[in-house]
Amino acid sequence: DQRTAYIDRLPKAELHLHIEGSLEPEMLFALAQRNGVEIPFASVEDIRNAYNFSNLQDFLDIYYQGMAVLLTQQDFYDLTWAYLERAHADHVRHVEIFFDPQGHTERGVAFADVVTGISDALADGEKQWGITSRLIMCFLRHLDEAAAQATLDEALPYLERIAGVGLDSSENGHPPSKFANVFARAKSLGLKLVAHAGEEGPPEYVHEALDVLHVDRIDHGNRALEDAGLVTRLAGEGMTLTVCPLSNLKLCVIGDIADSPVKQMLDSGLKATVNSDDPAYFGGYVNANYHAIAGALDLTRELLRTLARNSFTGSFLPPDQIAHLL
Ligand code: HPA
Ligand code: ZN
Repeated sequence: DQRTAYIDRLPKAELHLHIEGSLEPEMLFALAQRNGVEIPFASVEDIRNAYNFSNLQDFLDIYYQGMAVLLTQQDFYDLTWAYLERAHADHVRHVEIFFDPQGHTERGVAFADVVTGISDALADGEKQWGITSRLIMCFLRHLDEAAAQATLDEALPYLERIAGVGLDSSENGHPPSKFANVFARAKSLGLKLVAHAGEEGPPEYVHEALDVLHVDRIDHGNRALEDAGLVTRLAGEGMTLTVCPLSNLKLCVIGDIADSPVKQMLDSGLKATVNSDDPAYFGGYVNANYHAIAGALDLTRELLRTLARNSFTGSFLPPDQIAHLL
């Protein structure tokens, strides 16, 4: 219908995308064969059938298993290029991509191959389609802070290619404060800071992301809505929240797409954005996420335009570049 066409052509940025979560079953299967990696699936259909999750950890177990087929610099290039083709088709003009180096270095993949493969593809995507980008290195929060510090050490020669650091993986039991020192060090290096908070974890974790880590953006942030004082604060600070509707549905953060917090966030003055998180696992890229909530929450064109606008103004692009995109 008309709203679908409006969404599809709306220029937008994507701010919450794990590049390893864009590994489609077809590519997973092809890379397993190319690299001689054994996977516990006999077919692409087999892989897709395994994608049923009842919580975040269920998903993470499959997600880490899937990334085992990524071995060479070319694999990371191909993965990123395939995502950019999808993003281009969705009228995405700017992307801020997460990657999980610890998920690769622990398997013996060189940090250099990961970061070079991804960032070479991002540079070629800008040449081919004018899609600008930033790369955000995430620390796995189920590992300890010393491991995160070692990962930041490895990143030092590549800081021209890395714009910021983030925090992902299993949230409950791993509060932001566990990473206070490594985030402070990242900030002193001039890196931007983001953290997943309030996806499954309590509002207190959102407070910690703000007060202890001093993040520039909150990833997800759903459970901030349980704390009225926190909502007022986030609204007052103009803090961007990177919400992921289909991810929330697939990971049972919400029971129904109509329970997506996006409309409530906008109504509360929060700067919400719409993103795909791990689109190969959750059933759709960014436009599919807009479509899902547009119908369920009956979003007007004005609100859809606000969401797209928030994606640019919440990005790490310099203001003069944002002005060109609005
Ligand atoms: N939450 C936490 N960790 C993740 C996610 C997520 O949605 N996707 C990939 N790693
Ligand atoms: Zn995420």
